Amino acid sequence: MAKKIIAGNWKMNMEHAEAILLVKEVADFCKGQDLHLHDTEVIIAPPAIYLQEASKITSENRRLSIAAQNCSEQDGGAFTGEISATMVKNVGVEAVILGHSERRQFFGDTNELVNLKVKKAIEKGLVPIFCVGEMLEDRKNGKFKEVVAEQINEGLKGIHRTEIQQVVVAYEPVWAIGTGETASPEQAQEMHGFIRNLLAKNFNSAIAMDISILYGGSVKPDNARELFGQPDVDGGLIGGASLKAESFNELIRIGKEVLR
Ligand code: 13P
Repeated sequence: MAKKIIAGNWKMNMEHAEAILLVKEVADFCKGQDLHLHDTEVIIAPPAIYLQEASKITSENRRLSIAAQNCSEQDGGAFTGEISATMVKNVGVEAVILGHSERRQFFGDTNELVNLKVKKAIEKGLVPIFCVGEMLEDRKNGKFKEVVAEQINEGLKGIHRTEIQQVVVAYEPVWAIGTGETASPEQAQEMHGFIRNLLAKNFNSAIAMDISILYGGSVKPDNARELFGQPDVDGGLIGGASLKAESFNELIRIGKEVLR
């Protein structure tokens, strides 16, 4: 069974004081939620500069962890401005978002580079939250499955069956990110089912059943119930609605109740 996950990607938002307050508000909320009974995990991905402080706050709750939003494919050395998987791991972080569409669009993260990053994260003991998703144009011209299949095949190339179980996949259609427009529950299920079949083909079906596939793109408390209710949706990767304790905690509550 795939783990049920509610993850918040803060992107480049929140000043220090509000960031720490929000981590605390989510941590306090999670304490009272019996997440283990519902087999649900919560992940917060703040900007890199807050990772260490955030992971100290969440360290007592095994169902709540911190993720980085990116890491380098390199072990270390003369790479100004970069952060290695080991550095991230050293400060108590457990996961890392890789291949987010904003990294692909604005920072040159190609399928090949994302593949190297995913491998490095696995090697260093981090959970890669590996993101895929088509652009509006691919959706309109009917190429969306092809694009996502290529991202999966290239991004997870060379990863062994024993390692893939460590990976979480996030499907985020680019046209639904930050636009207020979400995929319909049917569109999400269609793609999640497609991704799971592809994982079954590339690895095997038992493994594919155990991989969490999260949906991301304008998830809000008022549309989460239907999206999370789809059989192949194992949780959400949430942007805007993860920046307020009220909406993120509500999404955790809905996830706990609806995700199966
Ligand atoms: P929004 O929820 O703001 O659309 O962002 C989704 C996202 O990109 C999460 O990684």
